[in-house]
Amino acid sequence: MKPSHKEMPAARSRGFAAIFRRVWEILEPWQRRRALGVSVLITLTALVETLSVVSIVPFISLVANPAALSKGGLLGTAYAMSGVTSERSFLLLVGFAVLAVLVLGNAFKTFTAWRIALFTNLVGHELSVRLVSAYLSQPYAFFLTRHSAEFAKSILDEVSQVTNRIIQPAMLALSRLVVTVFIGAVLVAADPLVALLVVVVLGGAYSLIFLALRGVIARSGQVRYEANQLRYHVVSEGFAGIKEIKMLGLEAVYAARFAGPSERFARTQAGNQIISLAPRHSLEAIAFGGVLGLVLYLLDTRQTLENALPVVALFAFAGYRILPGLQEIYASLTTIRFAAPTIEALHRDLTTMRPPAEPVHIAAPLPLTRAIRFEKVTFAYPNAERPALRAVELEIPRGARVGVVGPTGSGKSTLIDLLLGLIVPTEGRILADDGPLDGDETLRRWRAGIGYVPQHIFIADETVAANIAFGRPHQAIDRAAVERAARAAQLHDFIVNELPGGYDARVGERGVRLSGGQRQRLGIARALYGDPAILVLDEATSALDSATEDAVMAAIDALDRDRTIIMIAHRLRTVERCDMRVEIKKGVLSVSQQTQG
Ligand SMILES: Nc1ncnc2c1ncn2[C@@H]1O[C@H](COP(=O)(O)OP(=O)(O)OP(=O)(O)O)[C@@H](O)[C@H]1O
Ligand SMILES: [Mg+2]
Repeated sequence: MKPSHKEMPAARSRGFAAIFRRVWEILEPWQRRRALGVSVLITLTALVETLSVVSIVPFISLVANPAALSKGGLLGTAYAMSGVTSERSFLLLVGFAVLAVLVLGNAFKTFTAWRIALFTNLVGHELSVRLVSAYLSQPYAFFLTRHSAEFAKSILDEVSQVTNRIIQPAMLALSRLVVTVFIGAVLVAADPLVALLVVVVLGGAYSLIFLALRGVIARSGQVRYEANQLRYHVVSEGFAGIKEIKMLGLEAVYAARFAGPSERFARTQAGNQIISLAPRHSLEAIAFGGVLGLVLYLLDTRQTLENALPVVALFAFAGYRILPGLQEIYASLTTIRFAAPTIEALHRDLTTMRPPAEPVHIAAPLPLTRAIRFEKVTFAYPNAERPALRAVELEIPRGARVGVVGPTGSGKSTLIDLLLGLIVPTEGRILADDGPLDGDETLRRWRAGIGYVPQHIFIADETVAANIAFGRPHQAIDRAAVERAARAAQLHDFIVNELPGGYDARVGERGVRLSGGQRQRLGIARALYGDPAILVLDEATSALDSATEDAVMAAIDALDRDRTIIMIAHRLRTVERCDMRVEIKKGVLSVSQQTQG
């Protein structure tokens, strides 16, 4: 089966400047400051590391020619001033000093590595938190257009891609680059010709390899990104639809649907790993040959071993730092390029979706004293050919009991979602009393005053009590209110008599341990818990037998008369007690008053 490759802007290969600019743009100001701080630390570490490489020179030249101590020079002066009596003990002293520099250098390196790790991981943490908050605060309509698996992927997977495969390698590359430049400078001072040769051969080799492969890397990075997206989709759909999959015997089909992208994912990962490691071995051979050649060359130009040895030692020791350094720079750059599509996607989401500036609290309900009014409201779903509701005029006085009927697909749920402020009119407006329902804050307060029982009830894997008092912290749950709500929803008897654990029983993820009707009654109890002034029920009793439905309706009917109730039903008898009936046909409303029956 051919996977649908979504066209992404990231399919164009991007340069490093663009990648780093995007990373910089998604960082908070304090993170940028800290990034600069860590960069300074990296530079200092590189300096110390260079020092530890260079410090080998005086030691080796001393070993090669102890007699030089009496001839003055830097070491001779140090010897004279040290107060050490024998050349041998001075040698020992210098040895210890070299060792100390090395140990200190490594300790400093560890410290810097820790700061880098801390920085990148905290950035990862903060980016995930920002994404969760940004996604959650999107308007409801946003979620109608995105696959739910995308969120988990961005929050859990892409963020760590950006930190582990872009930010961390970038820091590593920077640190190796600085060390290489410093050590390179020392080599130039020691022997410009040889140093130039080293730089040209090694640097040139890595550059050529990278330039030759960068197209391949960018393309496989894109394939990896798309394959990963499919993996997440299949996993989330496969398990969400487990009942249907079992019934239709689709286990193997779904497993195979996963296998395709999973293999592409694995192969591109492997490809990238080998591309970033491969040059090392061949270049190590070149470098080893180079050291041999260098020894012969230096012996030839500097005549004696004692003259040649310090420089040979310096180059050998420097090579021991520079070669892995270059390898790491190269590997980091390939990794960054491979991960480039991730930063594109994350950058897009983080810059277009802003999390709320302040944490939003549960709002105080917006009071309704006179009526809810729809004025010429038209609503069309994104990408829909025709509007789901057309030119709706409707006035619902406070305390009215409204029954909404109409064939399936006629627009009942859409009307309710508009009323709830989950979606906003494409044209026209909705007013509560005379205030228009728009703007985040108003809609939030409006929703806070509504008890809503949706067509499909979401149940969290918590206790029954926590599900009725949904979202409240445990210690804030009002047990008496929970029981009152459960009694009205005709659920109390079932909870205390049949559910082991009663109100403290856990009901399983998405309520798998409840029947359809029990789930519905739990939804009703939840809507009643907050004692809302407006109650909205979307097919809330469709799964109940008529005796239980009658009991639930009687309980709702017995609520005080200034409560506004709007209910959708397929069965006319459900709404016969309403005083107003709204009928929808293909998105067009007709309203009739009913006499109390
Ligand atoms: N997210 C969406 N995107 C595009 N079209 C949608 C979306 N949701 C619903 N629709 C369309 O809008 C129309 C009205 O849907 P709505 O859910 O309001 O119907 P309904 O009257 O509640 O039906 P039912 O009784 O089956 O629940 C339908 O034609 C449906 O296909
Ligand atoms: Mg519906």
